[in-house]
Amino acid sequence: MIAMNVVLLGAPGIGKGTAARLLSERLGLLHVSTGDVLRQNIRENTELGVQAGDFVDSGMLVPDEIVTQIVKSHLSRHKNEKGYLLDGYPRTIAQATALESFSSISHVLNFSASKKTAVERIAGRRTCPECNKVYHLKHVPPGKENACDDCGTELYQRSDETPSVIVDRLRVYEEETMPLVDFYRNKGILAEIDASPPIQAVLEQCVEALER
Ligand code: AP5
Repeated sequence: MIAMNVVLLGAPGIGKGTAARLLSERLGLLHVSTGDVLRQNIRENTELGVQAGDFVDSGMLVPDEIVTQIVKSHLSRHKNEKGYLLDGYPRTIAQATALESFSSISHVLNFSASKKTAVERIAGRRTCPECNKVYHLKHVPPGKENACDDCGTELYQRSDETPSVIVDRLRVYEEETMPLVDFYRNKGILAEIDASPPIQAVLEQCVEALER
């Protein structure tokens, strides 16, 4: 079996994590979210969490070596013959170059929608701190107000969801991560995903691009 190793690119709040969770269930791929790993370490106050906390809270990128080590060790501990979805990594050319030394990427899905859509999705997002399940007050509301459907834990808003940090995250994305679009387009493995329609329609575009 040839593994499907996929990178999901796109602005903060565009819906990468939501699509990655659904694709992982549908296609049996391992979902690796650097943001989820960092937030869990920050909550548990581990050494990694202490190193990364200020970067994440202010919307800046965590140093390349730290995130590369997270992904490398996660992939070596969780082998999956079907492949994996990298959600939030790489985010710089240096990370993409490092990734090539320990992985072979078969597909890159580039999520696009307006800035207004990204901001509206971040503003309405609520997250479960226990199982990382993501909701949206309007688009994906929990069954019971402010409680996770799966584990009942109280939902929270992330520390990087304040208006000023959102502006900084969008700027960092444009400066540091957008160059990856051409990096992967030049390799002939990039597919464009229109992330503006409802979740199910975005998911179908992703499946079609991966099966193409
Ligand atoms: P990370 O957690 O990766 O954040 P992000 O890339 O900024 O993306 P988000 O998680 O905000 O959004 P998303 O696109 O996953 O959207 P979601 O599916 O939740 O990174 C956070 C921080 O960690 C970074 O700022 C940095 O500090 C650090 N970091 C992480 N990786 C790093 C790296 N490689 N290098 C350096 N630093 C790193 O959806 C958003 C909302 O919209 C949800 O409420 C959802 O329900 C809703 N929604 C989703 N899709 C749809 C749809 N189609 N229609 C309607 N609603 C939708």
